[in-house]
Amino acid sequence: MKNVVILISGRGSNMQAIVDAQISGAQIAAVISNRPDAAGLAWAAARGIATAVVDHKAFSSREGFDQALADCIDSYQPDLVVLAGFMRILTPEFTRHYEGRMLNIHPSLLPAFPGLHTHERAIAEGCKVAGCTVHFVTAELDHGPIVAQGVVNVADDEDADSLAAKVLKIEHQLYPQAVADFVAGRLQIRGNRVVMV
Ligand code: GAR
Repeated sequence: MKNVVILISGRGSNMQAIVDAQISGAQIAAVISNRPDAAGLAWAAARGIATAVVDHKAFSSREGFDQALADCIDSYQPDLVVLAGFMRILTPEFTRHYEGRMLNIHPSLLPAFPGLHTHERAIAEGCKVAGCTVHFVTAELDHGPIVAQGVVNVADDEDADSLAAKVLKIEHQLYPQAVADFVAGRLQIRGNRVVMV
């Protein structure tokens, strides 16, 4: 069994999709949030999954928070750390510690539109397609070797909310599959490219 620790900051619908997928060989060791009020925590706890909070507001420095977060994560001996709507910028020390064993999902077709407000920006640029990206986490925000991408069409009358809903639907397919591929040992990082072996 591979231990998977999932980090959330809010609703946790991607976390739910991963839990509900019942990925063979994966055990969800814990769901951890930086926000005590994250709705996903109650959902996970109701399913008997261990939950924890490391509140970023209790720390005066990013380094202090990341160290406490890493201590909490590591107490569950993770083989894989999954960022699922975890809205924090991470220190290089933290990302280095989990190099090759931490995934993130981002709601754009990276390297386009890293950061916030991805759907508004894609519409403003007149993009005909948009989507989401699962990638290994590196020190650079929303970069790192790409594991998988999902694509949706942008309709002429699309707004940010409708596009977000469309993209979220494919996030819920893409992310559990990427986690399953990692857990099964199918992902190999070669430079900046991830190949399926
Ligand atoms: C998802 O759309 C995810 O891609 C995005 O936040 C949402 C979280 O929803 N993540 C980022 O923007 C990270 N840069 P969820 O809590 O329901 O999974």
